Amino acid sequence: MEISQFVLASRPLGIPSISNFRLEKTVLNDLNDGEVLLKPWYISVDPYMRGRMNSVKSYAASFEVDKPIKGAIVARIIESKSNSFSSGDIVVGTLPWATYSIEKAETLRKVDTEKVSPGFYLGILGMPGFTAYVGMMDICKPVKGETVVISGAAGAVGIVAGQIAKIQGARVIGIAGSDEKCRSLKEQFGFNEALNYNASKSLRKELAILCPEGVNVYFDNVGGEITGAVVANLDFHARIALCGQISQYNNSKPALEYTILPHLLTRSVMLQGFIVSNYSHRFSEALAQLTKWLNEGKLKYTETIVEGFDNLPEAFLGLFSGKNLGKMVVKVN
Ligand SMILES: NC(=O)c1ccc[n+]([C@@H]2O[C@H](COP(=O)([O-])OP(=O)(O)OC[C@H]3O[C@@H](n4cnc5c(N)ncnc54)[C@H](OP(=O)(O)O)[C@@H]3O)[C@@H](O)[C@H]2O)c1
Repeated sequence: MEISQFVLASRPLGIPSISNFRLEKTVLNDLNDGEVLLKPWYISVDPYMRGRMNSVKSYAASFEVDKPIKGAIVARIIESKSNSFSSGDIVVGTLPWATYSIEKAETLRKVDTEKVSPGFYLGILGMPGFTAYVGMMDICKPVKGETVVISGAAGAVGIVAGQIAKIQGARVIGIAGSDEKCRSLKEQFGFNEALNYNASKSLRKELAILCPEGVNVYFDNVGGEITGAVVANLDFHARIALCGQISQYNNSKPALEYTILPHLLTRSVMLQGFIVSNYSHRFSEALAQLTKWLNEGKLKYTETIVEGFDNLPEAFLGLFSGKNLGKMVVKVN
């Protein structure tokens, strides 16, 4: 069977471009016992994939040049030689960016797409949702009346992290890249305040006005100058969950962040970096709680859906210019 797949054509220097990807034809082998034939339905593009395009040792293995890009995908089973799945079942797994693929059944998890959009298993009920859950519940631990600031607030992780902090009784301030995103954060997702860093003359001063008592919790998805502005406003004994640093992912030399260290020292701040895959023991609780909050209407979610397999690289690149509100996914027909 002939299929199309995206491979890594070259490693980017700085901001990645379409030319770092190549669409090519290949042929699938026959199905063996215990395997299934899959057709992708919703494909996730995630900021961490930028790191995998480099050839550096990290928590996630590098993509190999001339080999398929892989990521989280919700797919339909077309044919099954496994007792665990039947054709028509919808599953989630780590699959190649290919029009069809063959996988071992034990690497896949069946999902129910009757009540929620299939893409939610790549967002609020998938890795980004789990990230928001453990970052907020295990590291930040906001309590009633505290002030929580979230950067990258209008993205896949940030939208969930902010709402979880609200459920815990905190006052939540989001930072995002456009007035439209800030409006959505307040009107759709219940954030108390939202600041557009692209329109701000001084984020540090605007935060100081919004948080005269200081910031108790900072959930950082972005790093760089935005983090500098938040850290300058931290209260004593604040907690920081260092979740992402997307402002630095395309820099060959990351900015030195030592200017924030004296603030952390003098205000007795706890800063903890974390990688969600190290919290796999927490996933069943996270999935159950996120599903419950979603069903109760306490959590809301949204996705930016790019149509068409061929548009995968463009959707991925859009993450670095803020094209998404909520989770960026590609829908394949
Ligand atoms: N620690 C973990 O285990 C873990 C797990 C998942 C994700 N993450 C990290 O968490 C962060 C958010 O991930 P996500 O999946 O939720 O992505 P996302 O927020 O849905 O998408 C990326 C967003 O980042 C913002 N952005 C891009 N370039 C920026 C820049 N230079 N400065 C400021 N903001 C910028 C854009 O929004 P604006 O329009 O607001 O700029 C864009 O929409 C990423 O850093 C990711 O690597 C970490």
